[in-house]
Amino acid sequence: MVWLMWPSSSKVVYKYAYFCLASAQAKPIPSIQLFWGLGLGAFSWKASMAIFVVIMMVLLLVLCISSALLKWNELRYRKKGLPPGTMGWPVFGETTEFLKQGPNFMKNQRARYGSIFKSHILGCPTIVSMDPELNRYILMNEAKGLVPGYPQSMLDILGKCNIAAVQGSAHKYMRGALLSLVSHTMIREQLLGTIDEFMRTHLGNWDNQIIDIQLKTKEMALLSSLKQIAGIDSGPLSQSFMPEFFKLVLGTLSLPIDLPGTNYRRGFQARKGIVSMLRKLIEERRSSKEFHHDMLSCLMKNGENRHKLKDEEIIDQIITILYSGYETVSTTSMMAVKYLHDHPRVLEELRKEHLAIRQRKSPEDPIGLSDLKSMRFTRAVIYETSRLATVVNGVLRKTTKEMQLNGFVIPKGWRIYVYTREINYDPYLYPEPLSFNPWRWLDKSLESHSNIFIFGGGTRQCPGKELGIAEISTFLHYFVTRYRWEEVGGDTLLKFPRVEAPNGLHIRISSH
Ligand code: HEM
Repeated sequence: MVWLMWPSSSKVVYKYAYFCLASAQAKPIPSIQLFWGLGLGAFSWKASMAIFVVIMMVLLLVLCISSALLKWNELRYRKKGLPPGTMGWPVFGETTEFLKQGPNFMKNQRARYGSIFKSHILGCPTIVSMDPELNRYILMNEAKGLVPGYPQSMLDILGKCNIAAVQGSAHKYMRGALLSLVSHTMIREQLLGTIDEFMRTHLGNWDNQIIDIQLKTKEMALLSSLKQIAGIDSGPLSQSFMPEFFKLVLGTLSLPIDLPGTNYRRGFQARKGIVSMLRKLIEERRSSKEFHHDMLSCLMKNGENRHKLKDEEIIDQIITILYSGYETVSTTSMMAVKYLHDHPRVLEELRKEHLAIRQRKSPEDPIGLSDLKSMRFTRAVIYETSRLATVVNGVLRKTTKEMQLNGFVIPKGWRIYVYTREINYDPYLYPEPLSFNPWRWLDKSLESHSNIFIFGGGTRQCPGKELGIAEISTFLHYFVTRYRWEEVGGDTLLKFPRVEAPNGLHIRISSH
């Protein structure tokens, strides 16, 4: 219990130790009375006193060792030129405080040390930047040595050709290949039709049911991607793929401890399973010679293709697409349903937009690019949902050499947490920042404001942004035109470190 009560600053620990000593010398010694109450009264007064003194000495020793460790850890990282901040415990740093206090940890540290401070979170010495100007600079300047700094478990499981693992010309090459798969032309000519077909089926028979919208949106994000990537419909292949993929995702968010039973080990095994499924699929494609209209066929195209990829690159590219679009799209869709439920006026406006589109079409007509373009309010709802729910708290970079940032000297190999969450609640950028107000996004200039990082920025700005918006818009189209819903109630929703409903978000659905 005492450990939980200790704040990480060594000063506070000293004060606490002093308080213990002082109260031990003063008279009513509640601890001694407590020991007696527990049966120590059976000992002589002298023996009890001796036991008490030993316990106090042990406590004191623990206090001294702990404060020495804290001090040592501070001194270890006290290099000239580093930003101010605290480093917490050796090895663990301030991870517990960060995860427990959530965004308040960042806000408190900013209040004490300013918008750029040092810490030790998630296993690494880290510079946290909450300064929008510096954040933009970091995202724009990968070439100056500010490369992606994602955890080792993520890189191991997503593969060495994964886009987050490659830099410089290799990144340009992989990104180019990916952009050609999710371009406007691809969305118009290929992907939108596939997404439409998928959503109609996925949202087919929800009438008169209680569903877990978190689960449904997760399945939606993964299965819709599988259909776009390799034309895989819901069936045995996708059903065997899904649990492996969920294990892979969990593995990327775990500590890289390769022991039986750990999420990391399970994630790594899941990767192996997924790789062999994809390899088999590639081989089948090669031997069949049948033409397919999907991402895999584009990735495998030979000849004139500028981005001719090896099989292992194709596989990691597919895992990248699945992984990057999974949690972002599913969580934004779930939270949009949540906010629409809580804001009937917004739902009414959104439904008006979608019913108008349906009125122009027969029931079988799919959503086309012009329909998508006309969904201005829907796009605003998606942006406002991503802002208020803060699906992405920030992005990670690391330094490849010692460098100066805003007058501070950042050592080589330090991680930089480009923490963009707080800018989402900046009252200058978003008046009444805590209210869900999609209308603010109808002024298109807001989307391109230089301090908005909902889809990242600079050289690694999200290439799947328009595809993600198209998927969520199509989902919302069929959802609001087909159904009404109410929350069953009682479900918990967490906003940090990930937006999630630990036991699901259950809604009762009826036809519109
Ligand atoms: C609402 C949906 C989405 C949000 C909020 C979102 C957000 C982001 C953010 C913040 C980044 C920057 C990461 C960084 O700088 O390290 C990013 C990168 C990326 N996103 Fe998205 N994303 C979304 C949907 C998608 C989809 C559907 C795809 C599928 C193609 C995708 C693929 C990627 C990839 C491949 C990168 C890495 C780009 C690079 O390293 O060059 N995203 N996304």
